Amino acid sequence: MKVGIIGTGNVGTSLGEAWASERHEIMFGSRDPQRAQQLAERIKYNTKGGTYEQATQFGEVVVLAVPWSYIKQTLESMGNLKGKILVDCINPVKPQLTGLELGLDTSAAEQIAKMANDAIVIKALNSIGNQHFKNPKFGNMDASGFICGDDDEAKKIVTRLVADLGFDTVDCGPLQNARLLEPLALLWIKLAYVHGFGPNIAFKLLKNK
Ligand SMILES: NC(=O)c1ccc[n+]([C@@H]2O[C@H](COP(=O)([O-])OP(=O)(O)OC[C@H]3O[C@@H](n4cnc5c(N)ncnc54)[C@H](OP(=O)(O)O)[C@@H]3O)[C@@H](O)[C@H]2O)c1
Repeated sequence: MKVGIIGTGNVGTSLGEAWASERHEIMFGSRDPQRAQQLAERIKYNTKGGTYEQATQFGEVVVLAVPWSYIKQTLESMGNLKGKILVDCINPVKPQLTGLELGLDTSAAEQIAKMANDAIVIKALNSIGNQHFKNPKFGNMDASGFICGDDDEAKKIVTRLVADLGFDTVDCGPLQNARLLEPLALLWIKLAYVHGFGPNIAFKLLKNK
């Protein structure tokens, strides 16, 4: 599948690398297209780099991998979003990771869906550290990959992409449930970096067969 990745930070780089190794075609988009090209050259297979707009138009699926505080200008620079599947892995964390900028009665995902109202927003890959995007195995268990969104067809496509990384995918229902997934990410951050567990942790939904 053709995946456009918006932002060449920790998340963008790890996801691009992991999907490229699964033979997906990746285009990194950056405010600095040269940086995106250099990243693509380093990863080599199936990858190229360009602007945010080029990566958006390239992708059948487009991943938003930028900080919440810059989402508005990022969306504005992506060009035509009509019908695009946007994977939102953004957590609206406060500076110093002390809490969330919004929640309970809305979520970053729902706000993004309002800002990009002709795109299809699916929340995914937000509640685990980027170091686990490639091969999220913990002992003999695959970490859960929580996904929510309102469009079943788009959710199926994103579910396949998340499963290709090795996650045990969990359909968490409509996009409104991003109100629950974003605080879950903050719990991951607090456990990892405040309460002494370190980042080698993941959430797993256990089911009785
Ligand atoms: N880090 C994680 O483990 C993790 C896990 C799950 C979800 N998330 C979420 O994923 C998103 C990205 O996290 P990250 O760790 O990849 O962040 P990061 O390393 O800081 O990278 C963010 C990228 O956003 C782009 N960007 C666009 N406008 C920007 C601006 N004005 N200032 C700075 N950067 C700007 C930059 O890419 P270009 O320079 O290429 O444009 C930058 O590299 C965040 O919303 C975060 O909450 C993070």
